[in-house]
Amino acid sequence: MCGIVGYTGSKRAVDYLLDGLATLEYRGYDSAGVAVLSPDDHLHIVKCQGRVAALRERCNAANLTGTTGIGHTRWATHGAPSDRNAHPHTDCSGRIAAVHNGIIENFEDLRAQLRLAGHEFKSDTDTEVIPHLFEDAYKGPAQGDMVRALRNTVARLEGSWSIAVTCADRPGELVVTRHGSPLVVASTPEGAYAASDVMPLAAVTSHVLQLDDDDIALLKADGSVTVYDAGGDLVREPKGLDIDWDASAATLGGYSDFMGKEISEQPEAIERLLKDRLGEHGIEMDELNLTNSQLAAIDRIYVVACGTSYHVGLIARKLIEHWAKVSVSVEYASEFNYSDVLVTQNTLCIIITQSGETADTLSAARRLKGMGCRVFAITNVLGSSAAREADGALYIQAGPEIAVASTKAYTAQMVAAALVALRLALANGQMTQAEVEKVFHQLETVPDAIREVLNRSWQDKQVVPIFRDAPSALYLGRGTSSTTAYEGALKMKEIAYVHAEAYPAGEMKHGPIALIQPGYPVVAVVPSDHVHDKTVSNVMESKARGAKVIAVATDGDEQVANLADHVLWVPQMDEYLVPIVAVVHLQVLARYVAKAKGLDVDKPRNLAKSVTVE
Ligand code: AGP
Repeated sequence: MCGIVGYTGSKRAVDYLLDGLATLEYRGYDSAGVAVLSPDDHLHIVKCQGRVAALRERCNAANLTGTTGIGHTRWATHGAPSDRNAHPHTDCSGRIAAVHNGIIENFEDLRAQLRLAGHEFKSDTDTEVIPHLFEDAYKGPAQGDMVRALRNTVARLEGSWSIAVTCADRPGELVVTRHGSPLVVASTPEGAYAASDVMPLAAVTSHVLQLDDDDIALLKADGSVTVYDAGGDLVREPKGLDIDWDASAATLGGYSDFMGKEISEQPEAIERLLKDRLGEHGIEMDELNLTNSQLAAIDRIYVVACGTSYHVGLIARKLIEHWAKVSVSVEYASEFNYSDVLVTQNTLCIIITQSGETADTLSAARRLKGMGCRVFAITNVLGSSAAREADGALYIQAGPEIAVASTKAYTAQMVAAALVALRLALANGQMTQAEVEKVFHQLETVPDAIREVLNRSWQDKQVVPIFRDAPSALYLGRGTSSTTAYEGALKMKEIAYVHAEAYPAGEMKHGPIALIQPGYPVVAVVPSDHVHDKTVSNVMESKARGAKVIAVATDGDEQVANLADHVLWVPQMDEYLVPIVAVVHLQVLARYVAKAKGLDVDKPRNLAKSVTVE
């Protein structure tokens, strides 16, 4: 939920710290700060409530020239967003500073123990116990050894963390560690770097080192990175990772916001994912790490995810059950982790997570792996925890998704789910290779269908006034389109702050119809599919009560055109693939409404891109 950066080397630290925090701001943006070691070995702390841009102004005024430092952009968990609660936090002497991503679950006990030992606290955060514990260890048992001091510190902690610490007594050194929260490091001729994920490092290197939980890395100004494992032993060959994202991918590139850019990138993202996926023996998907016979033996699948990725799971279920005839349970990770789970050796777990760091989803994966279940990850981030911990991982190659609201990852993940379903159907004999190839070629038409919908975004703009001041709205759909309704409603909620409720259209009469009154907005996702006429009946019921109906319908559907107040048209598409296309109208609509309300579509209030705490 937060982003951390660190640097020590030959260049001004503050430049990387601020640029790095700007690319990590999607992880949290209610306050930010840096600690920079000055040439006269004093720690300068600059931090404030608000965005990284506000921090940058204060740093410019402070003229920070030091070449060692750490930085943080925050999504508050303990302690309101404020200057005093912003990271970095320091020890009593002000010569040790720390930044942290995660939650220290036993911070209250630690604060009490530290207070009894004479430490004084200046913030309400859980994080502030870290520099004080480090201070005691550094001055005591660690005898000035930064690595040992950090190891002693984290030995007292419970919860999750990635931490970076700098100390005025040790210019040109940083120590970092991780436990359940992501952190990568890099060694370059200009110095050594640390960051919560690869994004900030894409600007300075094409190769990063991945840390395992409880590794501690010592970064030095000569660019060296020395990694020690949980037992304190030297890791001679830390896991390396080549970054295939260029730095420009994390820039707006002429767009007014990342959400708009990422919506428009969906056709290319899907084309990248489909490239070379159809081989002479069907779908190429070595990532599954399962033989045809192992795949054929799978008799049950759990799909576990959160938020938009959970909606991908709902589509994955439809596709797998329709094509591969294997029973699928789709679970919210946060619920799944506290439910009874029945697995056999023929159960497969698929986790879907754009960031690869969602705590609830990772917990589910770890639980299932502990039960002997094979876990397969569909994710967008190279080297993410999900990718590293799963038995196999399919990268959707959508490129960095910066906007908090997931769009291109959603559609690319649905395509990935379709590929998994086809791979399974061929392996277990439910589909012939010719049938798989036919569906694959239909998938290949999706990018152009999305391009066509994007060309029709003027239709979405027309209906913005209906939602601009609407306190709430209903989103309805049936079959594969119910998921499109759920996802469209989530987008309208999370970026336009309209209370949009999504229901299976058939459910409307069992309660939600009471919401409908004259002028009430109802979005009906009603493409030409086998439940079309049923959904049309729901549209009529809505209209009969004065609703303002916005229909997502298939080109040429005169019946819906005569019924609805507005139609957002989509090209004719197989009903099992139409969700990948129809949702684009609802992404565009939500974005337009949010912009009409003057809202920040990339950083909506209260949210963060990666929910790395449970
Ligand atoms: C999507 O628009 C939301 N930002 C959120 O629901 C997100 O999908 C969810 O937090 C899961 O994230 P993940 O895919 O990175 O696991």
